Amino acid sequence: MKTVLVTGGCGFIGSNFVRLLSADTDWRVINFDKLTYAGNLENVADLYHERIRFVQGDICDRALVERILKEEKPWAVVNFAAESHVDRSILDALPFLQTNIGGVQSLLEAVRKYPVDRFLHISTDEVYGDKEGKEPSTEESSLSPSSPYAATKAAADLLCLSYRRTYGLPIIVTRSSNNYGPYQFPEKLIPLLIRNGLNELELPVYGDGKQIRDWLFVEDNCRAILGVLEKGKVGSIYNIGTSEERTNLDVVHGICAAIALRQGAESEKLEARIRFVTDRPGHDRRYALDTTKVRTEIGWKPRAVFVTGLKQTVDWYLDHSEWISRVTSGEYRKYYDSVYAQAWGTT
Ligand code: NAD
Ligand code: TYD
Repeated sequence: MKTVLVTGGCGFIGSNFVRLLSADTDWRVINFDKLTYAGNLENVADLYHERIRFVQGDICDRALVERILKEEKPWAVVNFAAESHVDRSILDALPFLQTNIGGVQSLLEAVRKYPVDRFLHISTDEVYGDKEGKEPSTEESSLSPSSPYAATKAAADLLCLSYRRTYGLPIIVTRSSNNYGPYQFPEKLIPLLIRNGLNELELPVYGDGKQIRDWLFVEDNCRAILGVLEKGKVGSIYNIGTSEERTNLDVVHGICAAIALRQGAESEKLEARIRFVTDRPGHDRRYALDTTKVRTEIGWKPRAVFVTGLKQTVDWYLDHSEWISRVTSGEYRKYYDSVYAQAWGTT
């Protein structure tokens, strides 16, 4: 039986990935997570069985990572652990440098000491920067990150690839587009709008709302990641996306329609709560990926289309209102005020 060390498995994509491994493989999974504000044991509460072990820990803590690698001898490490929200990186970049760069270096060093067959690093399309009026990024495109978050992710990708060349580590990198679906923390656009929509709050749209993102249902991303883990070529990068490009305003309208449909209400009432607010500093207008490689080499393609994936997501949040209340108590309020009430504090 294979063992996989999954870091950040209590966050949004990581918990969906652990759920997929639990359902579709017979592997043992070590879920290693610091449980930051974004990590939640409740996200994997239905997954406690003998094949899953949870370890609370920081990927920057090399001694602990080494101990787990020594004990469990995993064949692969899949690194989801990160500070993941652009807006928070604008407010304070330090935790991003610590986890997204320092933490990755700590994992790489630990793996040098206790080798694995595969080290899959989870990255993002944001490393390619703004693609407004440009061709979609291939895996060979240059990196041009705009936000502190994206800069730390780009640095980590380069660090991983340098450890491939210098020390021969079995590195693979995936770069996906924007994910949406169950268990996403309500600081990102889609869950934030759903939460606000359900709570009679305003629906904040940055700038003119015409920025474009390529939306990927989280379960499709997790299937792609599993495919890459099993069949991907060591030393390779794989873009993962749908090319389902939508403006943020399209997304807001879609959410209003999906909530209204489920509640038997009129979407105009929700739409009246849309508010155009101060734009995010340095905001990228468009991300776009060429995903030919993952489709041809791995044989992956997305199953969800945006309209049905969004409806499924809205349904999930409506059915998990207590989850939303729990994760948005405490620290969330302070964060929300610093972005939305004080409009970026310093800008
Ligand atoms: P998330 O913020 O929901 O979860 C991050 C998880 O990592 C949390 O469980 C947190 O507790 C854990 N963590 C943070 N710092 C840690 C540390 N130092 N040690 C151990 N655990 C730590 O993030 P997500 O949206 O699930 O993103 C997962 C990965 O996918 C990230 O690397 C992110 O950059 C990447 N990514 C995300 C998206 C997206 O749309 N969400 C898109 C492309 C790539
Ligand atoms: P987000 O979910 O933060 O993902 P990313 O910045 O990584 O793409 O944001 C998605 C888009 O939605 C992005 O263009 C910023 C915009 N946005 C808003 O308009 N309002 C909001 O309140 C948030 C959180 C994001």
